Amino acid sequence: MNNSENRDRLLQGVKVLAIVCNQWGDTGKGKFVDYFSDWADVIARGTGGANAGHTIRIGKKEHIFHLIPSGILYDANGKINIIGSGVAFDPRVVCEELDILDKEGLPYKNLFISKDAKLVLPQHLVVDRIRECGDSGKIGTTGRGIGPVYEDHVARIGLTVNDLLNPRIFEGKLEQNLKEKRRYLAGFNTNTIEGIMSHPHLEHGSFWNSTTLFDVNAIMDAYGAYAKRIQNMIHNTDGMLRGLMIGNKKILLEGAQGVLLSVDYGSYPYVTASDCSLSGLAKGVGLSESDVDVTLGIVKAFYMTRVGEGPFPTEFGGEESAVWCGKKGITEQSELGEFGTLDVNHASAFKQGVAIRQAGHEYGATTGRPRRTGWLDLPLLKYSVGLSGRNVILTKLDVLDGCKTIKICTGYQYKAKHTYRVGERTIHPGQCIDEAVVDSDVLKHCDPLYEEFPGWETPICGIRSLAELPENLQVILEFIRKKTGINPRIISVGPDREQTIVM
Ligand code: IMP
Ligand code: MG
Repeated sequence: MNNSENRDRLLQGVKVLAIVCNQWGDTGKGKFVDYFSDWADVIARGTGGANAGHTIRIGKKEHIFHLIPSGILYDANGKINIIGSGVAFDPRVVCEELDILDKEGLPYKNLFISKDAKLVLPQHLVVDRIRECGDSGKIGTTGRGIGPVYEDHVARIGLTVNDLLNPRIFEGKLEQNLKEKRRYLAGFNTNTIEGIMSHPHLEHGSFWNSTTLFDVNAIMDAYGAYAKRIQNMIHNTDGMLRGLMIGNKKILLEGAQGVLLSVDYGSYPYVTASDCSLSGLAKGVGLSESDVDVTLGIVKAFYMTRVGEGPFPTEFGGEESAVWCGKKGITEQSELGEFGTLDVNHASAFKQGVAIRQAGHEYGATTGRPRRTGWLDLPLLKYSVGLSGRNVILTKLDVLDGCKTIKICTGYQYKAKHTYRVGERTIHPGQCIDEAVVDSDVLKHCDPLYEEFPGWETPICGIRSLAELPENLQVILEFIRKKTGINPRIISVGPDREQTIVM
């Protein structure tokens, strides 16, 4: 059977398809949301916010979108795009994205925004960014206000998109919320706050007030203008989506970030603030996990990446890489200037990591930061598929073309000098562990244990069937399948739609 027949078979009888990521994000969800958008009637996002980023190609131009689902390009075909209730919604960002669509002459008449999405306000960006200024306690966030907006939701002092429709109520809630933020910010230097607020993401300082910190009128004006622009898109999308599901529409749920960044299941506290697992995604669009017929969990292979702080046992070059990637101002260009184009077989682990970053273009879509790179970690993968299910899409395999040795992490040696109690077990110095203990205080002391495999020489980007893939690659696939129980359904051998093998 060919790939298109296999795709039909995969989608047979499916009404709700979810695409999530089994790692720390950036595994190529965008390609597969696009790949399945022609099948779907509805494309919905339920988690995260402007911290996510996907590149959308419009004609010859590439644009980075953060909030509007990738399915928007199918609006003209009548597809519905939804920004769900679980999303941290920044109206400024969406207005910018609408500007791009307007400029390109692309319609968005079927774009709906949940009335219950959590509203990002200037103070959320300020709090997020000021926390990242210090030397300790850094998470390496994207600075998009994601943590503070969800905190406010749980603290029951948050605003929602619906508040944009009722300016008087909006103002009251805004004042109330700002009271708390001023109290919190009183502990920080006002110059620092002013500096943060001069950023373009905060309308170049127009919200700044030297006595009250925040100029309520300026915020009201800006949010009033955003509201005017998007008011007709604001809907009860939870109810709408349930209705569409009952009406037999085909629904594609677009995950954001990855399970290992989930606030509930990830490497806490180095996580984002929404539950970007399958259950969080379903909940974030008003459905339940059991409504999802098929989940495809994306796995970058045979390497993985992480952006921001936090443990990453298989990182190429370990600490050296973490420190380098954490430096301010490093971009794809500057790294190229510093190292030139490096060989994926470089003898230094750190430089091999840079080489793989270059080969895979692993630089953040939202912040431009270099993504930390490392070998595929099977204990973590086994943990993730326990949450996302066994059906996976393997992506970016072509990046390792020509790599002589592929290492696959099968366990760890705990290298801390102290014992550590985690629930019912105690981990001792020097102990070998073959399952992931998703606790940052354990993971940060885990030295990976590897199984090594010979790589493949010839480029795989032109291959369109499993049987034609190099034997060495198939051996690794089989090994991973046995070790983790994954069921690979799709293998991606390049960024293009056609570069896809469906099993
Ligand atoms: P926040 O989501 O901006 O609060 O950032 C928290 C952590 O999640 C940081 O380590 C970010 O780098 C990471 N993060 C957030 N969004 C993404 C994403 O889309 N891809 C990869 N990492 C992300
Ligand atoms: Mg992304």
